[in-house]
Amino acid sequence: MTILIKNGTIITPDQRYVADILISGESVARIAPSIDESQFVDAEIIDAGGKYVFPGFIDPHVHLYLPFMGTYAKDDYDSGSRAALLGGTTTLIEMICPARDDDAWEAYQLWKGKAEGLSACDYSFHMGVTRFDESNEIALRRIVNDGVTSFKVFLAYKGALGVTDDELFETCRLAKELGVVVTAHCENADLVARLQAQLVAAGKTGPEFHEPSRPVAVEAEGVHHFCTFLQMTGAKGYIVHTSCKDAVEAAARFRMQGVNVEIETVIPHLVLDKTYAERPNFEGAKYVMSPPLRDIKHQAFLWDAVASGMIATVATDHAPFDFVGQKEMGKPPTSDFTKIPNGIPSVEHRATLLYTHGVATGRIDLHRFVDLLSTSAAKQFGMFPNKGTIQPGCDADLVVWDPDYRGTISAANHTMNTDYDGFEGFEIVGRPSLVTCRGAVSVRNSTFVGFLGHGRQVPRSLGQ
Ligand code: URP
Ligand code: ZN
Ligand code: ZN
Repeated sequence: MTILIKNGTIITPDQRYVADILISGESVARIAPSIDESQFVDAEIIDAGGKYVFPGFIDPHVHLYLPFMGTYAKDDYDSGSRAALLGGTTTLIEMICPARDDDAWEAYQLWKGKAEGLSACDYSFHMGVTRFDESNEIALRRIVNDGVTSFKVFLAYKGALGVTDDELFETCRLAKELGVVVTAHCENADLVARLQAQLVAAGKTGPEFHEPSRPVAVEAEGVHHFCTFLQMTGAKGYIVHTSCKDAVEAAARFRMQGVNVEIETVIPHLVLDKTYAERPNFEGAKYVMSPPLRDIKHQAFLWDAVASGMIATVATDHAPFDFVGQKEMGKPPTSDFTKIPNGIPSVEHRATLLYTHGVATGRIDLHRFVDLLSTSAAKQFGMFPNKGTIQPGCDADLVVWDPDYRGTISAANHTMNTDYDGFEGFEIVGRPSLVTCRGAVSVRNSTFVGFLGHGRQVPRSLGQ
């Protein structure tokens, strides 16, 4: 298939220019000020005049198949990859979260099997390490050889996904030896357990007490703890879903000492705050995620860190649970916020919300927008320059962006498989009008037109 995208304004982290892009098969074949369409009689011609053309977005933190807190996340690769593409995400990295007793290789096969033949977008995985022993080490080496060049550890979720300090050390030691990145959820699990127990015993059981059970100091301690292990082992780290000033500053102190650690934040932490989780009639449960939504004062700090480059990526931490039947697991009469499945669905809305609240308000420019959503993740997770940029030879993952679109987010018309949308009623500026994933038009006129099974696992090298 040949596609010619004409007159678009191409944006990468360091370039902005108007040009035509010729796609041949799965790759970008040529970029030139003007490509004569009469040479390509069978080509689909797309007029991108007045629109931006971005490299396909990469979401480095997604949960689709997720057995968690006594239930399962609601999306699969059918709804999840369609929602991702509608939001301009052409590659997602899913967290493999095995139970502690699971064999790592079997878990990897299980998660892969959920994506293969079903995903409409490209994908990869962070391999969750929820136990470290000899047999799992052998499996982890095999998984890295298969192109999954990052691990995931949870310092939180005591008794479930969380690892011990010995296991954390061994994971970092192996990562250093293999040159892979350790991604980490940083909250002190013991402190969370103590604080949860205290609050519940005091009758403070509603969703609004989720945040006080995991205050900013608990997250900052987790970051400090993880970074100390990086420092001791020399491993490369990546802190997921950083929610507050205290956590970012804790990581920054280690960066200044030469520790190789990158910081991610997620779209809920940039546009929502803890008052959402305080909504009455248990509606706050829709906004229970970990680390929790914070006091609004942290947002300004996060936006500055996003703009300055201190924060490298904006992901989603898409973790979709229905309100009815799932979030309600912590509802009165057995009211207990610790039973509410953690997570906010957002894989569809990352780019539109970042554009609306970041670019349209002048907090970040278009180059930073592309870096935060695509290029930085491609580099860190070993996909650059096949992905994360627009140049001859790269994968034809492109987002044609309509900056003039105005709309409103609603569960009534979202594609994610949840019965609510955490951004209900949010007004949106701009959206993808056309998306290609390795040369296949997957979104046209902001409607999914791709096909399930088109997506492939991205073979990743070691990050840069
Ligand atoms: O609340 C969250 N973040 N749920 C998904 C699991 C995780 O911690 O990433
Ligand atoms: Zn997490
Ligand atoms: Zn997560």
